[in-house]
Amino acid sequence: AGCNSHDMSAMNMGGETATAVTEGSFTTPLRLLDTASPSGPLSAKSTTEAIVAGKNARVLGYRDGMLGPTFRVTSGATVDLRFLNALTEETNIHWHGLLVPANMDGHPAQLVGAGQSFNYTFRLDQAATMAWYHPHPHGKTAKQAYMGLAGLFIVETPTEKALSLPSGAYELPLILQDKRLDASGSPQYNPSMNDVMLGYMGEIVTVNGVASPMHSVATRMYRLRLVNGSNGRLYNLALSTGAQFWVIGSDGGLLSAPEGVTSLLLAPGERADLLVDFSSVPVGTEVYLKSNTFSGGGAQGQQAFNLLKFVVSKAETETFRLPARLETVTPLAASVATKTRTFDIGIAMQAMQGMNMTGMHTINGKVFSMNRIDETVKLGDTEIWEFNNTQGDEPHPMHLHGAFFQVLSRTGGRNALTASEKGWKDTVLVMPGERVRIVVPFTKPGTFVFHCHNLEHGDDGMMGNYQVA
Ligand code: C2O
Ligand code: CU
Repeated sequence: AGCNSHDMSAMNMGGETATAVTEGSFTTPLRLLDTASPSGPLSAKSTTEAIVAGKNARVLGYRDGMLGPTFRVTSGATVDLRFLNALTEETNIHWHGLLVPANMDGHPAQLVGAGQSFNYTFRLDQAATMAWYHPHPHGKTAKQAYMGLAGLFIVETPTEKALSLPSGAYELPLILQDKRLDASGSPQYNPSMNDVMLGYMGEIVTVNGVASPMHSVATRMYRLRLVNGSNGRLYNLALSTGAQFWVIGSDGGLLSAPEGVTSLLLAPGERADLLVDFSSVPVGTEVYLKSNTFSGGGAQGQQAFNLLKFVVSKAETETFRLPARLETVTPLAASVATKTRTFDIGIAMQAMQGMNMTGMHTINGKVFSMNRIDETVKLGDTEIWEFNNTQGDEPHPMHLHGAFFQVLSRTGGRNALTASEKGWKDTVLVMPGERVRIVVPFTKPGTFVFHCHNLEHGDDGMMGNYQVA
């Protein structure tokens, strides 16, 4: 991690400061991420991108420019990507939200050295997901993702396609990130102790790699497919009009039915599939996708800011009807679980490198160890995992590789499930004081990691290995 010693004053959360967001002018057009099929070559390399118009930033990308293409397939498809690491350090790819064989999952022990190649080959035998992909080398994940290595990966089912949800120009895959830029407009990654505690936050929020973009829309329904690709920042998504929008999907595909909401908290690693209705908005109106304030996240929740400006600029008559049913999500009962495991997550004191005791981000008091198996699970079993965030006042979005789960309950804080928690999840937000119970069927054999998706926390050691056999 970026810090080799967290002193007690840094653990006094009251002293922490969150980076405030500065909005740009919302005049640069939104960059649309192109769609690709997951075959052929993909490389990680140094490249440039105009994060702020007119300034050429030095970034990392999975092609020319930040971020990668949006891979899109139907369930059952085969992925065959020859990945070249053209960076000067090791990396790998984790398919966050794809259920792949353990040796294809981008475990931090499966590295691709600088100048080396690796073939990511697997069949997608899962149902739907709105996945994404990013590097996973331990201690370097946060920096590499922050510098631009991330992309979306959409797996659809025939049921989903038959619903005729907004598509083509009316479907927008969006990656939310935040950056700190130097005078040349390039993102900087030098986490201080404060940054390791809170997550590295930027004062510029980018959508698809562009700061404060704008996008022209017609008077009709749009589908926004969002991934929170920020290292540590939470977004409490809302529309500047305060209008209702619909959550139709979560990490692991569509919900059973659309859920109307006026805000939705999206933590690092989580995805949200939304329908936004501009059909009765007068032409000429500006509507922002914004982040509202929220509680439980300390200083970072105290500021509201805009993310993306929609300009309603074209009248269109549309006959879209919100579907009453989407994809069936059959609830898993707690009673099917064979076992309950409890995880205390947060800061715990560690003896580090012969130095004084220091506070590190841990799971059950332990920092990550590459070859230590922390949990052993029987293949085919369904278990309850309980995350208990009582060791500090930081939000922890907990992510499992190799499995999807359903959220059973949340107590000690918000005491309710969010709209997107009515679907299949692979990442769940555990706010300070909260105890969240999930029910997980384990269907993939092998060793996988589970960790906090605040990437600074993960790199600091808030990660464990579980083995399914
Ligand atoms: Cu997107 Cu291990 O994470
Ligand atoms: Cu965390």
